Amino acid sequence: MTMSNTAAIILAAGMGTRMESALPKVMHPVAGRPMVLHVLETAAALVPEKTVVVAGPDMDALAALVSAHELAPDVTVQTERLGTGHAVMAARDALDGFDGTVMVLYGDTPLIEAETLIALREARTTAQADVAVLGFRPLDPGAYGRLITDEAGELNEIVEARDASEDQLLVDLCNSGVMAIDGAKLGGLLDGLTNDNAKGEYYLTDIIALARANGGRCVVVEGDEEEFLGINSRAELADAEDLMQNRLRRAALAGGATLIDPATVYFSWDTTLGRDVTIGPNVVFGPGVTVADNVEIRAFSHLEGANVSAGAIIGPFARLRPGAAIGEDAHIGNFVEIKNATIAAGAKANHLSYIGDATVGAKANIGAGTITCNYDGYTKSLTEIGAGAFIGSNTALVAPVKVGDGAITGAGSVITKDVETDALAVTRSDQKSISGWAKNFRDRKGRD
Ligand code: UD1
Ligand code: MG
Repeated sequence: MTMSNTAAIILAAGMGTRMESALPKVMHPVAGRPMVLHVLETAAALVPEKTVVVAGPDMDALAALVSAHELAPDVTVQTERLGTGHAVMAARDALDGFDGTVMVLYGDTPLIEAETLIALREARTTAQADVAVLGFRPLDPGAYGRLITDEAGELNEIVEARDASEDQLLVDLCNSGVMAIDGAKLGGLLDGLTNDNAKGEYYLTDIIALARANGGRCVVVEGDEEEFLGINSRAELADAEDLMQNRLRRAALAGGATLIDPATVYFSWDTTLGRDVTIGPNVVFGPGVTVADNVEIRAFSHLEGANVSAGAIIGPFARLRPGAAIGEDAHIGNFVEIKNATIAAGAKANHLSYIGDATVGAKANIGAGTITCNYDGYTKSLTEIGAGAFIGSNTALVAPVKVGDGAITGAGSVITKDVETDALAVTRSDQKSISGWAKNFRDRKGRD
């Protein structure tokens, strides 16, 4: 293997006690995706030939989650949580004989960007350094490890805040935790680690002083604080969500969408928008939404697992659930819920309806209050509505049922049998009128 080869280690063994959660910290979602998958996705930009995720004991769900990622990482278990250096030791067997650049990332730092990682790797190889560290200057250096450099800017050591002297605590250049390490040197450096420090842990950060003592070089690449937010609590999770949402909003605007009030629109990591899409205030995108060009999504709509074709109008107050496929120029209006249903081009469901497990043909009109009764308490059944059909207001379509092309259902009907093409189906009882009844009633009650 050559110097340019890359392996990635993602440290994720911490339970994150301050999250007060049964879920391992790195599985908490940011923009709809577990944070560890953000890190894996970013690591994928390095095209690593080997990726290792270090998990804690009893984290089977985490192992299954990361194993399904395209990088197909090895998952190794750090049985005792004895520090970041100890965690990297747990990945050692998986990297046996690897002599390229080993990138160490934290599973709880999901905002890091691919260009930053690539620049760090580049800096290490260019400087022929044993270790390159991503540093940053946070507003509040607090508990971060401090990067101690010489006059030339070379890194001499990293001192953890709780082991630092007063002078060292004044240093504002901090350790993000992300490192690029010469794989050929890594084993020797790990062998030199001890747990002789304030926390009694094997600190990965100590490899800097060890490398320097052996005559090796260590360099710092400075980055933006925003990328290095490490999540240890729900408050930090909320901060990360905020930063990620702002990134996604800026990307949507840059891609040609109009957001009338960007701060109130919430995206998922994978939301895809076409050009000239207009999104009103207070719209939420869950995972798996694709929106084509010239779509308007009006205020207070909620979309998840849905595909919206060009020119469609959604909302205000619409809900698209997984499997909703909205055709070109279709209209889905207020208080309409669509689930696992295909709405063909030009069809309209403008008011107060539930369309679930259904197909709606081109230019069909779904009247206000239409309900597809798709569930009998045991199984889900399909409703098929033909092209150009007109479903009268307040129709209940008891699935499985088909309404043919061009057919009409009378308002208030309960449709339990198929309706043939171009037929009218009405199931309500005949109207009875009693002349004068209303007036007599009022007279009896003694009111005008
Ligand atoms: C670490 C750094 C510190 C840096 C900070 C940046 C060390 C000794 N300190 O401190 O210099 O400023 O990150 O956020 O490296 N983990 C394991 N196994 C362990 C311990 C940790 O997998 O035994 C994982 C955690 O799950 C987490 C990451 O390593 O993803 C960092 O651990 P954490 O305890 O948060 O380190 P900090 O004290 O924040
Ligand atoms: Mg931390």
